[in-house]
Order: sequence, then C-alpha cells, then structure tokens
Amino acid sequence: MPYTKEDLNWQDKNSRSSVEMRDTSSRPAVTGKVENMGDYDVIFLGFPIWWYVAPHITNSFLEEYDMSGKKIILFATSGGSGFGKSVAGLQDSCPGATVMEGKILNGSPSIDALKEWVDSLTL
Ligand SMILES: Cc1cc2nc3c(=O)[nH]c(=O)nc-3n(C[C@H](O)[C@H](O)[C@H](O)COP(=O)(O)O)c2cc1C
Repeated sequence: MPYTKEDLNWQDKNSRSSVEMRDTSSRPAVTGKVENMGDYDVIFLGFPIWWYVAPHITNSFLEEYDMSGKKIILFATSGGSGFGKSVAGLQDSCPGATVMEGKILNGSPSIDALKEWVDSLTL
C-alpha cells in the first residue's frame, strides 16, 4: 500500500512509518517485481533516509532477490542527515553483495551533475 501523508508523520509514535521502523523485523510488502534481476551486476538503490537508515521496505525489496556478487550503490534523499547506518541496515538483506554509500541527492541535482557522479564511480 502506498504511504499516505499520515503514514509519514514521524512525530506520531503510532504512524505507519513509526511502527515499521520501531520493529527491525518489519518487512512491508513491495508492489511489483524486477523479472530480470539476474541481468544486472550493478544496482543503484534509492530511498528516503528514515531514522538514519533505509526504510524497511528497502530490506523487503532486497530480500526478494539473490543479490550475491552484485554491487549495490545507495543514493538517498534526506532532511539533511547523511546515510547514517544505512549500509549496516541493508547488508544482512543481501548476503554476498557489496553495498556502498553513493550520494545523498537533495535539492534536485541536474542530469549533468548526476552523470558526472556516475562517471566518477569505479564500477
Ligand atoms: C519516518 C521518517 C523518518 C525520517 N528520518 C530522517 C532522518 O533520520 N534524517 C533526515 O535527514 N531526514 C529524515 N526524514 C526526512 C526524509 O528523509 C525526507 O523527508 C525525504 O528524504 C524527502 O523525500 P522526498 O523529497 O522524496 O519527499 C524522515 C522522514 C520520515 C517520514
């Protein structure tokens, strides 16, 4: 189910996001599936930072696939913080994959800036 504005109220201890993030084992369902994940060696995985980690639905996504041997590059938006413990929070959901902090992409970066960033990566 898509998240509503109320779901995203981090100040409400009973909102959906608060309940999900309090329970480290929560795995909200993902809509849709990547049918050809096996074709990819490098995956750019984007999410909003929630409580200094990735939302648990990001763990749900990773756990649906065999990610071993793949490189997973994180990008995120945030209210100002960095990746926090995002890598640690995701690693157990993709055993055998290399999870790397990529870039916080706040403030609508231009296509050129994104290209420059991707080109600078050693993949
Ligand atoms: C439940 C929740 C927790 C959040 N925790 C953090 C946080 O720890 N650090 C931070 O900088 N921003 C935090 N934010 C702000 C979001 O990261 C920010 O609103 C989001 O990246 C904006 O994405 P959008 O531009 O796609 O709406 C939180 C937001 C929510 C809803």
